[in-house]
Amino acid sequence: MLNFDRAVTIPGWMKPEELEWLAVQASRASVIAEIGSWQGRSTRAMADNSNAVIFAIDPFSDEAIGYPGWWKPPVKHKDWLWHEFESNLREYIGKRVIPVRMFSAYAYEHLEPRGVKFDFVFIDGSHDFGHVTGDIQMFKKLLKPGGLLAGHDYNEPTCPEVAPAVNAQFQSIMLGPGTIWYALYGNHANPVTPIPAESLSVA
Ligand SMILES: C[S@@+](CC[C@H](N)C(=O)[O-])C[C@H]1O[C@@H](n2cnc3c(N)ncnc32)[C@H](O)[C@@H]1O
Repeated sequence: MLNFDRAVTIPGWMKPEELEWLAVQASRASVIAEIGSWQGRSTRAMADNSNAVIFAIDPFSDEAIGYPGWWKPPVKHKDWLWHEFESNLREYIGKRVIPVRMFSAYAYEHLEPRGVKFDFVFIDGSHDFGHVTGDIQMFKKLLKPGGLLAGHDYNEPTCPEVAPAVNAQFQSIMLGPGTIWYALYGNHANPVTPIPAESLSVA
């Protein structure tokens, strides 16, 4: 039985059906990287429904918030985003949730030489073409064989560069609920998710 009681109280953009998809993938993973955690809505959905170790990669600072003009969060105090995340994930931090307070490119530079490998990478950081491309190219190298690479905001009108960036990296992708895209790497003896009817080939 999946539990979203706490996750849905946390501000964020993930719809309930997207949280459910994330939770199912997380339940099948041992080590997860999430790029872009914000206040922890998606992180909490994964943590509450898995036993996985989750690397939450996000600077948790205003300088990371680079959305084109349409929205700016209220500035409360310098570390407000970190405090929100920390309070929303308190039970897990230092146990199964490992905040990596840096931009994804720096996180990659730290994780790669240490041989950290993931079953599941979820990309929801900067949504411009260059960052989405970079996150895919870097973090697919950190996937275990058979791992799952996925992200948010595919065909989301407010994030018009996500889909072109994803399409440029893959011959085909699959679409999950809402604006989730995903791609499987290697052979899945036990596929992580049923292939949805609306699977899309972008080749
Ligand atoms: C759309 S929010 C993530 C939402 C979150 N997944 C949720 O469900 O609530 C994007 C987050 O990505 C972070 N971010 C932006 N650029 C980043 C980068 N290059 N590396 C890591 N995180 C980044 C921002 O600080 C912000 O918290």
